[in-house]
Amino acid sequence: MNLPDIIYGTAWKKEATTRLVVEAVRNGFRAIDTACQPKHYDEKRVGDALATLYKEGIKRDELFLQTKFTPLGGQDPNSIPYDKNAPLDQQVLESFEVSKKNLQTEYLDSYVLHSPLFPFSELLKVWQAMESIYRRGEALNLGISNCYDLEVLQKLYEKSSIKPAFVQNRFYADSDYDKKLRTWCEKEHIQYQSFWSLTANPHILADENILKLTLKYKKSEAQIFFNFLHSLNIIPLSGTTSQIHMKEDVAAFDFTLEKSEYQLIENLL
Ligand SMILES: NC(=O)c1ccc[n+]([C@@H]2O[C@H](COP(=O)([O-])OP(=O)(O)OC[C@H]3O[C@@H](n4cnc5c(N)ncnc54)[C@H](OP(=O)(O)O)[C@@H]3O)[C@@H](O)[C@H]2O)c1
Repeated sequence: MNLPDIIYGTAWKKEATTRLVVEAVRNGFRAIDTACQPKHYDEKRVGDALATLYKEGIKRDELFLQTKFTPLGGQDPNSIPYDKNAPLDQQVLESFEVSKKNLQTEYLDSYVLHSPLFPFSELLKVWQAMESIYRRGEALNLGISNCYDLEVLQKLYEKSSIKPAFVQNRFYADSDYDKKLRTWCEKEHIQYQSFWSLTANPHILADENILKLTLKYKKSEAQIFFNFLHSLNIIPLSGTTSQIHMKEDVAAFDFTLEKSEYQLIENLL
């Protein structure tokens, strides 16, 4: 699998979703993250953007498309995209069909469980439904998000037949930046994706060491930080609404800091 450097996030964009996704791809993004969760994402408008981009010559297989199954607890009770009374496995299959239709695609590059369910038996039931989608070839990878408890992740890894390929988590101090979890993920070849990378870390972006690096490399604070995340084998998400930032984000990986400079930033975590 060709992993993207950075993923464009489509949360909270409402009616601007189509325009912003089109702009993101025109500015160089090749990976898109969304969710079948009308409360925060407009998956259908992501699909409309893709239709526009295909007309411009972008091909489906040039894009990495990722969406999520959001369990009932994460849905707006007035706008649930599947039958809330159906058994869990049925909810997943229904939600996936809605996603395919919204995104006008036959397959997803990555299908992510938005957050773990408790008890674990429910999580496993949902995962097994996701595995059936994987086996049909309609999801090329499976992932889990908002999973900060390493034991839960390890149990999922142990009990699943299709192992998680991705973990998508908030990258912030409260979880100690998932240091233990990330070390384990590396060992098991699970790719970590980060959100809140900029918004949760203004203290790092404002650090004088980062400032010095922006001058030395002629890159912005965000570019330095995204580049640093790469050195930790993290794929960041960016949901920027600015075309300048879109261009900056995709140009954040064409340079390499010195080892000691990466270490300086790592010491800030
Ligand atoms: N799995 C989950 O539960 C979950 C939760 C939250 C988010 N996500 C995903 O992650 C995506 C990203 O969300 P996020 O919470 O990390 O925040 P975000 O939506 O990416 O917000 C980043 C903020 O930083 C600013 N910014 C400044 N310079 C920037 C630069 N060079 N590049 C990018 N942003 C820059 C942006 O402002 P400008 O708009 O002015 O650039 C924006 O205010 C979401 O769209 C969603 O797909 C997933």
